[in-house]
Amino acid sequence: MSEKMKGSNNQYTSKIFNVQLHFISFLTYSLILVFGLTLGIMISFYLKECTFSLQFTQFSIPTTQPLSPPIAVKQERVGLKDFLKPPPIMHDMDDEELLWRASVAAKIPDYPFERVPKVAFMFLTKGPVFLAPLWEQFFKGHEGYYSIYVHSNPSYNGSHPESPVFHGRRIPSKEVQWGNVNMIEAERRLLANALLDISNQRFVLVSESCIPLFNFSTIYSYLINSTQNYVMAYDDPSPVGRGRYSIQMLPDVSLNQWRKGFQWFEMDRDLALGVVSDRIYFPVFQQYCKGSCYADEHYLPTFVSIKFWEGNSNRSLTWVDWSKGGPHPAHFLRSDVNVEFLERLRSKKCEYNNGNSTNACYLFARKFLPSTLSKLLKIAPEVMHFEHYDGPKKQKLITKI
Ligand SMILES: *[C@@H]1O[C@H](CO)[C@@H](O)[C@H](O)[C@H]1NC(C)=O
Ligand SMILES: *[C@@H]1O[C@H](CO)[C@@H](O)[C@H](O)[C@H]1NC(C)=O
Ligand SMILES: *[C@@H]1O[C@H](CO)[C@@H](O)[C@H](O)[C@H]1NC(C)=O
Ligand SMILES: *[C@@H]1O[C@H](CO)[C@@H](O)[C@H](O)[C@H]1NC(C)=O
Ligand SMILES: *[C@@H]1O[C@H](CO)[C@@H](O)[C@H](O)[C@H]1NC(C)=O
Repeated sequence: MSEKMKGSNNQYTSKIFNVQLHFISFLTYSLILVFGLTLGIMISFYLKECTFSLQFTQFSIPTTQPLSPPIAVKQERVGLKDFLKPPPIMHDMDDEELLWRASVAAKIPDYPFERVPKVAFMFLTKGPVFLAPLWEQFFKGHEGYYSIYVHSNPSYNGSHPESPVFHGRRIPSKEVQWGNVNMIEAERRLLANALLDISNQRFVLVSESCIPLFNFSTIYSYLINSTQNYVMAYDDPSPVGRGRYSIQMLPDVSLNQWRKGFQWFEMDRDLALGVVSDRIYFPVFQQYCKGSCYADEHYLPTFVSIKFWEGNSNRSLTWVDWSKGGPHPAHFLRSDVNVEFLERLRSKKCEYNNGNSTNACYLFARKFLPSTLSKLLKIAPEVMHFEHYDGPKKQKLITKI
């Protein structure tokens, strides 16, 4: 029994020994397992962080090489750069797409980046800007403070040599006829294209026969500091005013809302946005202001007087001579252009910003024929104090405005 017991005891101790052995190896395995697991988790976290930081600092490094050491070269921040870049001037958006895109506006009024406000000069022309050499002198040295857009008749093939500031500034254009509503379509197209550049703050419509009456810094300050828009609007009770109204425009436009004014306007970004996104009044004009109604003399004056009258000065910044009568203003020839004539246009008294008097009533004048160019080039830079007409020696940039 005792032997049996012994034997069994022996068996028992060896069993216990076995169990202990198993336990120890189990413990060892467990420890190794826990250690391995921890190591694994740690490595995977490290790798994740590594690829994470790689994704953030190295845009060009594909994430399939997460183990390559971080490269010290600092990539330039993109931020809003891509978003703010205007599309190419010769884009392929149709009018509907263009107007929609131009009507997109920020709700937050402050800009989270440095924005130098620009003046958009929108040339509505038949063919070439034949006074381009004069404008060239006017713009010289003020890069970054203006943008140029040209809408010319599509049949004009651009064979006229383009001067540098106008080079590549033609926007996708369509046929325009004098007095036709498609003139307004062209103006809206110009405004929409100019709105795509977030820096453009003031928008001025000029023609190929327009000239500036002051130097760039004077015009720039005048416009940028202005609290008003310059859309000419008045009530003309005659047959060529109220007489062009159609009762079919009711209920959107009534006779006492009907206004007249000429086409050459200047406006701020807010009004420009209002014009490109008008879906009520413009269709009424498209439908009921045809032929001898002359939409270009009534659409903007009426629209602005209904919706934006508060900020409007009701006058134009572009001088023209209607004194000779007839449907077109007077043309000026080479023999009409002299220093006294230009000085006279430069010194008319006007109200500026609702109350202050200014000597600069008109900033632009028309209609100057191509023959005036050489004479203008000779006398205008001096009369108008163009900053750079004397060559590079006199160069003085507007540094901070
Ligand atoms: C432009 O059109 C005129 C005729 O209208 C033609 O004589 C001229 O060669 C054309 N120029 C170009 C660059 O196509
Ligand atoms: C606007 O007017 C203020 C005060 O008259 C002047 O300090 C500022 O330079 C003007 N801004 C521009 C763009 O001319
Ligand atoms: C412009 O005309 C409108 C009427 O159409 C008038 O309410 C507004 O006061 C005028 N603005 C100025 C500055 O004269
Ligand atoms: C006239 O200009 C002065 C600064 O030159 C300005 O303080 C004042 O508010 C202006 N008046 C009006 C009515 O805008
Ligand atoms: C711009 O013209 C104004 C007069 O309109 C003149 O006082 C000013 O000095 C001119 N600017 C430069 C830089 O010549």
